[in-house]
Amino acid sequence: MRVVSVVGARPQFIKAASVCRALRVRHEEVLVHSGQHYDYGMSDVFFEQLGIPTPDYNLAVGSGGHGRQTGEMLGLLEELLIEQRPDIVLVYGDTNTTLAAGLAAAKLGIPVAHVEAGLRSFNRSMPEEINRVLVDHISALLLCPTTAAVENLRTEGITEGVSLVGDVMLDTARFFAESVDAAPVLARHGVEPDGYFLATVHRAGNSDDPGKLGAIVSAFAALDRPVVWAIHPRTRKNLQAFGLDTVVAASPSIIAIEPVPYTETVALLRSASALLTDSGGMQKEAYFFGVPCVTLRDETEWVETVELGWNTLVGADAARIVAAGTTRTKPEARPSVYGDGHAAEAIVDVLERFCGGTL
Ligand code: UD1
Repeated sequence: MRVVSVVGARPQFIKAASVCRALRVRHEEVLVHSGQHYDYGMSDVFFEQLGIPTPDYNLAVGSGGHGRQTGEMLGLLEELLIEQRPDIVLVYGDTNTTLAAGLAAAKLGIPVAHVEAGLRSFNRSMPEEINRVLVDHISALLLCPTTAAVENLRTEGITEGVSLVGDVMLDTARFFAESVDAAPVLARHGVEPDGYFLATVHRAGNSDDPGKLGAIVSAFAALDRPVVWAIHPRTRKNLQAFGLDTVVAASPSIIAIEPVPYTETVALLRSASALLTDSGGMQKEAYFFGVPCVTLRDETEWVETVELGWNTLVGADAARIVAAGTTRTKPEARPSVYGDGHAAEAIVDVLERFCGGTL
């Protein structure tokens, strides 16, 4: 089996780390990096740390408006896929890279396999929601992490090619978590176990809106313990543009740091009192490690984390962020709703059965 896998943004590297490893045991993989993320700290360091093979191609599209960025990838991927003619194109998640790769392949009649299919926020103002809905509707194989995802697809009339495989981010977390030594990382940032919050903010709905970003900053400054905030480049630019960078710098409780590599994130997350985030993937990672999550959005695709009491949705409302951060709900039960840590093998199995004509 010959598979072209397309990645481009930070969360996709974390997912691909496990799938590449499982896939390459028996099959040929051509790895393509779209170049959507290009900073060393947003891209290269993940390949190095997670042992992801060097991409065979880097399209180097860089940043830009959604249309230009997606369109540029689409054209380049079409040429590449015509040349490569793989049996399957593997795409991950919900970024512009996912959409471009899915669309390029589907139009060439190459089957698309979508890892993390079926996720829905039911908020069409999120670019990611548009990407994931479109890709699900043009995919031959829908590789779902949760039963909720399978149900979402059924509601949209998609029942063929759907497999519940579990969550590949759990595979990656299990593979690397044991080797992480948290102590030096915490010491570097001057925090104690269970004595700080970890925060990330990058969702366009928050970071492009001065009112929302301002409310988030004021909440972080008002919390009862330090907030280690790993600031995404788009958020850093907007903090400056909105004049909020001075507020961050003046706050004694905000420890502003650059985006952190995977193992450092795991170290900081596992020892945190709670996670404050608008990331999708990190809500799950908090659940994997038994850390309460406060989600800076009004809805989530990872509904299990909320239903099970580990995640609180607070939007960009300063008072609610402070209240949830102070309460830090930590229920007793943490069932295995994201599979058994072997989602990557399950995915390879589905691809093999599809190519062998037995699915
Ligand atoms: C993208 C994904 C989002 C994912 C996130 C992970 C889309 C629509 N969004 O959002 O789903 O959760 O990646 O981080 O695909 N920038 C840099 N250096 C980089 C990359 C980006 O400085 O290496 C800055 C640029 O100013 C850029 C901005 O960040 O314009 C946004 O980057 P972009 O890739 O468009 O979206 P993300 O916000 O990273």
